[in-house]
Amino acid sequence: MCGIVGVLGAHEAAPFLVEALRRLEYRGYDSAGIATVNQGQLARRRAVGKLANLSDALVHDPLRGKAGIGHTRWATHGAPTIGNAHPHRAGRVAVVHNGIIENFRDLRAELSASGMAHETDTDTETVALLTEFHLSQGLSPRDAAERTLARLEGAYALAFLFEGEDDLMIVARKGSPLAIGHDETEVYVGSDAIALAPMTDRITYLDEGDWAVITRQKIEIRDAAGALVERPTRIIQIDAAMVDKAGYKHFMAKEIAEQPTVITNALDAYLTESGIALPEPGLDFRTLDRMSLVACGTAYYACMTAKYWFESLARLPVDIDVASEFRYREPPIPDRTVALFVSQSGETADTLAALRFCKGKAASVAAVVNVTESSIARESDLVLPIHAGTEIGVASTKAFTCQLVVLLILALKAAQDRGHLSDADLAERLVALRALPGLMNHALATEEPASALSRKLSEARDVLFLGRGAMYPLALEGALKMKEISYIHAEAYASGELKHGPIALIDEHVPVIVMAPRDALFDKTVSNMHEVMARGGRILLVSDQRGVADAGDGVWESLVLPEVDPFLAPILYALPAQLLAYHTAVAKGTDVDQPRNLAKSVTVE
Ligand code: F6R
Repeated sequence: MCGIVGVLGAHEAAPFLVEALRRLEYRGYDSAGIATVNQGQLARRRAVGKLANLSDALVHDPLRGKAGIGHTRWATHGAPTIGNAHPHRAGRVAVVHNGIIENFRDLRAELSASGMAHETDTDTETVALLTEFHLSQGLSPRDAAERTLARLEGAYALAFLFEGEDDLMIVARKGSPLAIGHDETEVYVGSDAIALAPMTDRITYLDEGDWAVITRQKIEIRDAAGALVERPTRIIQIDAAMVDKAGYKHFMAKEIAEQPTVITNALDAYLTESGIALPEPGLDFRTLDRMSLVACGTAYYACMTAKYWFESLARLPVDIDVASEFRYREPPIPDRTVALFVSQSGETADTLAALRFCKGKAASVAAVVNVTESSIARESDLVLPIHAGTEIGVASTKAFTCQLVVLLILALKAAQDRGHLSDADLAERLVALRALPGLMNHALATEEPASALSRKLSEARDVLFLGRGAMYPLALEGALKMKEISYIHAEAYASGELKHGPIALIDEHVPVIVMAPRDALFDKTVSNMHEVMARGGRILLVSDQRGVADAGDGVWESLVLPEVDPFLAPILYALPAQLLAYHTAVAKGTDVDQPRNLAKSVTVE
């Protein structure tokens, strides 16, 4: 989604703004721009496509000035053109915006009636026009911005810059995060702290509804009611090296390879000598009758896997929902229900809205997040960090397996609290869990054969994934990874569901990837594989040595993983699913880390 940066500095702003935008590239964008004020003169440069195009524009037509704002735009209202790129300018004001102004059509009609015509298709231009309208009524920049903010409906992070004001920036946050970084002489603004990491680690996050008047010497923050407020300044540890590819060709490759390490970090955070320790205030599953798990995309598939664990291990009924459906379905939330939201970014608009719907209704609201400063974390009663470290690749990989690990630990805790797992059985499961990073290292050793198979997959137009039991959500995740980065059409089905329709798709051109460890359900999956092979379908079996041996003849290709305790298989088998998608995308030459049309953090609904 869109990225915002800003600076009131002691040096030229343009190089900082472009560099900071580069650090936000991972969020996904299709145009970019910056504006500066130089000796009172407001000016801007914008370009469509990658940041290199903006840099080129700045080489040909440089921008001077030590105060500036910048933006990477992920188009919502209006095509990705120069005209629609931010910053938007109206008279004496320039604005960058992340989010959607829902009442922009009404505002635009009002402004047109006052003779202020719009030039672009965007909702953001309306914010600039409205502020210029207020300036033309004689208001100061501060009062004009305040008056404008009071009229806006929807979600936004905004930064304003004004002609004639070399030492003023006004920013606001409602629904989209905004971080202010500072040192002795300079102030920085960013959609997330990653953008500001090389400049400062002292970060103040605006709260929901806050807006701030910033000069180099003073940051004055007000809440939605207009009262002056203090927000805490935190020291954020974002090492520049963490957002470096570390010699890998893509962030996604690096993040896949990091999984044994980050899973160890997650295990260390939750497992103690004596068992499982949750962060305060914890959860007592003896007082709960039901769980409601809500998320989007990959995080939703983590929830779907967790349902198998909570129900089979802890005998705890679980509802799972895609957040965009849940929020408008208005489901009843029975007493003694914990509502749990899973999100890597912690900013996904639909998940956040679903969380707000549950507040005050559910017995407790818990969040499984990677970004612990995020809105979803801040609004939850219990925060369960996944310890994946910064994830830059748009396709979620290490965050998925870390989400799974945290959810599995929670399911084991539920099983123990509810008397379905003895201390001895729990200890045995935890030993198996502790061995997972070692098994992951072995699974990563399949990279070479996975890469060779991927070259064949890259020729396919359609790919099917099959899985049974807790491997079914993983099949869905495998198909999502494949389609989002390789652009190959991929679908997933529960193995037993194939003959109820999808088998009509089978022919020799459609590879069918079967995720099936040699577990209690394996024989049933083999029957389904034979149904495919009998119709000329090509099976790529991902299994262990025994599984591959027992599958019999006729399998097209196989990928062999180490044997694993069945309850851990969905986590281990995520790795070959990621590797197959990654290498297929590499073979096709797509933009792996920033696939077309996708954004890392989906802050609009
Ligand atoms: C897919 C992917 C997305 C996200 C989804 C939710 O690889 O990354 O499907 O999982 O947009 O994002 P978060 O977890 O940030 O809420």
